[in-house]
Amino acid sequence: MKILIINGPNLNLLGKRNPDIYGHRSLNELNTFVKDYFKKVKLEFYQSNHEGDIIDRIHQAMTQFDGIVINPGALTHYSYALRDAIEACTIPVVEVHLSNVAARESFRNISVISEVCQGTISGFGAYGYVIGVQALAHKIKRLNND
Ligand code: DQA
Repeated sequence: MKILIINGPNLNLLGKRNPDIYGHRSLNELNTFVKDYFKKVKLEFYQSNHEGDIIDRIHQAMTQFDGIVINPGALTHYSYALRDAIEACTIPVVEVHLSNVAARESFRNISVISEVCQGTISGFGAYGYVIGVQALAHKIKRLNND
């Protein structure tokens, strides 16, 4: 099983950016943290600050991976282009946020992508990505057995 983990804008600054909200791990450290949980699942990591590049990566991923875990950063709250890309995606996508977006500013309470994702994990820090991969693996196994 191959899963792609995508991080969107400003998540390259993890560790330096609002560590009280997003934690002290750098993006590399976070990726290693997640990788260490899985022996059988192959994980690949991608980060971009550019909406179009993330959309291109989702398009490519459809023929390369079994599923996607995505933290789209602020694109979550307004990117209909990202929403359309996920809706068109033929492999399952799980939405992850480090912080509990429901408990923050009102603009963060809205996700334009949740509706087209398999589910959302929010507020569990780096561990949220681990839960996201586990949830996706469960979903993929079920899809393949059906
Ligand atoms: C975030 C929450 C978003 O509102 C914010 O713009 C981010 C990170 C999170 O992981 O908690 O960049 O997606």
